[in-house]
Amino acid sequence: MKLRSFVLALLLLAAFAFSKTITVGTSADFPPFEYIENGRFVGFDMDLMREIAKIAGFELKFVDMSFDSLIPALRAGQIDVVAAAMTITEERKQVVDFSIPYWTADQSVIVRADSNLTITVLFGKYKIGVQTGTTGDLWCTDELVSKGILPERNLKRYDTFILALSDLLNGNIDAIVLDSPVASRFAATKPVKVVGIIVTGEQYGIAVRKGNKELLNAINNALKQIIESGKMSELIDKYF
Ligand code: ARG
Repeated sequence: MKLRSFVLALLLLAAFAFSKTITVGTSADFPPFEYIENGRFVGFDMDLMREIAKIAGFELKFVDMSFDSLIPALRAGQIDVVAAAMTITEERKQVVDFSIPYWTADQSVIVRADSNLTITVLFGKYKIGVQTGTTGDLWCTDELVSKGILPERNLKRYDTFILALSDLLNGNIDAIVLDSPVASRFAATKPVKVVGIIVTGEQYGIAVRKGNKELLNAINNALKQIIESGKMSELIDKYF
């Protein structure tokens, strides 16, 4: 028994000595997945990364940036991981590798709580806000702008949802298209409401640099453990 605890202590020491720091990029404007509270990165994705790090034995450093900078920063080696409620898409899979999926979502349309607008807000004369480079942006671009339903000038792209939301509340835009879980959170905490859902059936994954097998395997193994141990359900209860 004594020997076992000695070996264990030694292993822990070794793990500590060799533990490396993984830099996690996010766009901390997306409650309940990632946001900043009292100067600290919080949210489902942030805690999920902390649990993964515990299991895989690495230290974490979080970096906040605009969503559309995340993949370029990952490819350039400025960050090692993207944890940002990022949807696994074919286009992104060409340039980064994704973990097993950990969440599913659709797109929602939100307007001001006191507005009479409905889902038809999307069809022409109103101003629609999206976060640059998100699947909401891509959906509006492909399904509305490219098809001549929404004039390009009426699609407003923002670096962060914080800016989009304040423009919606100020009346500078009329609606925002964004992921359904985040739309529901905003509807519960801000004077906005959901007027429609666009079923896209997206799945979120954690992204690593293409070919970074070691890190990807560590993340996937940890994710499986987190799901099996019930820790995942605990995190869901905490944030949803
Ligand atoms: N799921 C969407 C996408 O991958 C939106 C993600 C936005 N994430 C964020 N942290 N702002 O494009």
